[in-house]
Amino acid sequence: MTNPDDIGGLVGYIEYTFGKLDVLVNNAGIALEWDGRPTDADKVRRTIEVNLIAPYAITEALVPLLSRSEDARVINQSSMLGSIGNAENAWDQVSTFMAVGYSTSKAGLNMLTVMQSKTLASKGIAVAAAHPGWVKTDLGTQAAPMEVDLGASTVVNLVTIARDQFPHGQLMHKGKRMPW
Ligand SMILES: NC(=O)c1ccc[n+]([C@@H]2O[C@H](COP(=O)([O-])OP(=O)(O)OC[C@H]3O[C@@H](n4cnc5c(N)ncnc54)[C@H](OP(=O)(O)O)[C@@H]3O)[C@@H](O)[C@H]2O)c1
Repeated sequence: MTNPDDIGGLVGYIEYTFGKLDVLVNNAGIALEWDGRPTDADKVRRTIEVNLIAPYAITEALVPLLSRSEDARVINQSSMLGSIGNAENAWDQVSTFMAVGYSTSKAGLNMLTVMQSKTLASKGIAVAAAHPGWVKTDLGTQAAPMEVDLGASTVVNLVTIARDQFPHGQLMHKGKRMPW
């Protein structure tokens, strides 16, 4: 995600193999600060690098291939922990998960989503963000209530929904619009 040579290799592979790209899901993310130890500037920097800067760089690199698709979509895997509109509620309910790097990186990803939805519209590329829910993964831990297939359903819906119903420039969870 963060190595420019790897990103260049990805672009070359997709161009050589498929000649275009229909869907980009920026899913990979990290939560380094949930290790029970105090956060610090290095953890914040590394988290923002993976969760925000990498999705920006990868999407930018793939815009030419996305532009060749007749139904191009970019889906940024975000989190309600990055929602400023829901921050007061989140603080009351799950403040232990609201780490500086993780929440600000996802808030930044939300803003990136809005900006990409504006700048990429003229190239025919639709952009939305997804909140999967609290899901049983390495990141979500086995304490999470949602199984992986249900957690993936928001992104799957955004990949498969009819083009004219795609929630361009919105943050979505299980088919519903969430506050930024
Ligand atoms: N699980 C939840 O409850 C939850 C809730 C809200 C949002 N999310 C978001 O959903 C997304 C997926 O999370 P998850 O729960 O599936 O987490 P996960 O189980 O920890 O998986 C994260 C994935 O990201 C990859 N990754 C991390 N850093 C990378 C890098 N620098 N380069 C390439 N790949 C990298 C990991 O690859 P390796 O295994 O090779 O390291 C792994 O496949 C994340 O963006 C997360 O913030 C998850």
